[in-house]
Amino acid sequence: MRASRAVPSFYSLVEPELAELRRRLADVGRGAHPTFASAAAHLFGSPGKLLRPTLVFLSARFGAHANDRTLVDLAESLELVHTASLVHDDIVDDAVLRRDLPTVNAVWDDDVALIVGDYLFAKAYALAAVLPKSEVIAMVAQTVFALCDGELTEVSAGPRMPTEEEYLERIELKTASLYAACCQGAALLAEADPEHVAALGAYGTSLGLAFQITDDVLDLVGDEGDLGKEVGRDLAEGMPTLPMIYAAAARDGDARRLAERILSRDKEPPELRDLLRAIMDSGGVERARSRAQRFHDDALAALDRLPARPEREALRELADFVIARER
Ligand code: FPP
Ligand code: MG
Repeated sequence: MRASRAVPSFYSLVEPELAELRRRLADVGRGAHPTFASAAAHLFGSPGKLLRPTLVFLSARFGAHANDRTLVDLAESLELVHTASLVHDDIVDDAVLRRDLPTVNAVWDDDVALIVGDYLFAKAYALAAVLPKSEVIAMVAQTVFALCDGELTEVSAGPRMPTEEEYLERIELKTASLYAACCQGAALLAEADPEHVAALGAYGTSLGLAFQITDDVLDLVGDEGDLGKEVGRDLAEGMPTLPMIYAAAARDGDARRLAERILSRDKEPPELRDLLRAIMDSGGVERARSRAQRFHDDALAALDRLPARPEREALRELADFVIARER
């Protein structure tokens, strides 16, 4: 059941920039092909948590040009990269629900979703291309490479339990790279000191790792109503995530058997319930949550290298939200 949601306080410092971004997102489909315009209205009618643009605007406050309009261009570009990647990921995962709404592939079909993702990505790159710093433009392109590498690693992996290190490499590419780009790109664009740019990049990477581990925990034990997307898909499809890796490693003697069961595809509900209990009993979920907590702590340690400002406190609160969230 979804509880009433208080708006976290970390948004408040950058509300004017977020309002401008929401207006722009509502306009993404204007003048475009009618199918893209409908899909964009569908996607941005419910824009999600907007964590990445919030990171852009908060990080920029550590530079001398925090209010430059180009920051809204960067925030929009990276949010469009994120949305494009989710539209494509929902095709890959055959997902039918996202942000409490049917996915683009479910409302239209996979072909439309593929092209809508391409369209969004082209819009993202058109915005990035006119940014005034070539290193930030290059960073957007590098981030898309990283996202693709992470997703390709995931889809092309054989039925094998990855090591913790392999898992962390994959989520650093597919998720944390974009968080780092938001923080580091904004700080670069706003002309922050190089050591502050580096601190924000380190914060973004650790935060992104904490986010994805939490996401993978919620996929196992979260509530569909809170999350606004289906739960249990990773386990049902045999997609190994950190709680499962830890669960298999914790089993003496029958680790291989548990791994085989986790990796098998298209499981029936009784097997799913049984496996979920085995993963919980082995402490896999708890251990994954503490791994996310450690990345959260690393993110906070990176913030200590920044000047004490309300924005630094907001970034702390954002990190707390990322690991405590239920949605
Ligand atoms: C969600 O993972 C997916 C990602 C974080 C990255 C997806 C990346 C691509 C499809 C390649 C890049 C494409 C473009 C157009 C930039 P998940 O399935 O674990 O999370 P979920 O439960 O929210 O779906
Ligand atoms: Mg997915």
